Amino acid sequence: MTTKATRHFLSLLDCSADELAAIIARALELKASPVNDNFRGKVLGMVFDKSSTRTRISFEAGMAQMGGNAIFLSSRDTQLGRGEPIEDSARVMSSMLDIIMVRTFAHASIEQFARYSSVPVINALTDAYHPCQLLADMMTFAEKRGSISGKTVAYVGDGNNMCQSYINAARQFNFQLQLACPEGFRPADKLVSNNADRVVLCSGPREAAQGADLVVTDTWTSMGQEEEKEKRLQAFSGYEVNHELMSNAANDAIFMHCLPAYRGLEVSADLLEDESISVVWDEAENRLHAQKALMEFLLS
Ligand code: CP
Ligand code: NVA
Repeated sequence: MTTKATRHFLSLLDCSADELAAIIARALELKASPVNDNFRGKVLGMVFDKSSTRTRISFEAGMAQMGGNAIFLSSRDTQLGRGEPIEDSARVMSSMLDIIMVRTFAHASIEQFARYSSVPVINALTDAYHPCQLLADMMTFAEKRGSISGKTVAYVGDGNNMCQSYINAARQFNFQLQLACPEGFRPADKLVSNNADRVVLCSGPREAAQGADLVVTDTWTSMGQEEEKEKRLQAFSGYEVNHELMSNAANDAIFMHCLPAYRGLEVSADLLEDESISVVWDEAENRLHAQKALMEFLLS
């Protein structure tokens, strides 16, 4: 079972602002010097209940580059997927592994897993949060524009795990967050009201983008919501992030998207491919560097 000394990373709130800043600084160092032996003899377990390209590759490559190993554990192939209780799986897995990342549906499931794990557990995406992506996003902003503290960020789209992670980031990295989410697709009320000093709900995309230094969006239909796709396409009409919307943002504003992106829906093809504004490829690569820094922090 988790002891007091076991640190988990289930949301950005599991680290202090100073710790997060140190992880980003270390990620930038590791990007410049990616190979070392710091994870020699360490084994990462990677529990996936949902699909992934970036998350799987970045964790697996990151372990390899630092001398460790990673085991891919799809719920299709483990007993977890056949109904073995989370608390049993967590105790057994953590008795053999040094660190575990979990991508699953309900956030309560990863909380339960962490409660019974004797080693650090990393949230590699739940329905509620995607904090590893925020490490990469914050690192990318730091690389492109310097400190995000005091800046303005616009999030346009679904009030999903990315949106909710941006709310936590606004608190931890000290920026103003202007949200545009259609009615019925807003982030949890409590999360917004608890962060009222940092977060404002705008009337629509144009108002949200006003003066923003960073504009962010994400898919309108997240993993597990496929049956709602048609309803969502209608609800999000007018929410495409494109050059016209970006013209409301600051002159040197950049655009981010965690990917996978759906061109012609939440983002125009032209904007996504416009590398003078869109930093999505660096943002994706930075998952690798940021998570290496995160694992180093949690294992130390
Ligand atoms: N952004 C992200 O988490 O991508 P994957 O779903 O491909 O891992
Ligand atoms: N909000 C998306 C992010 C994918 C990386 C999802 O949960 O499917």
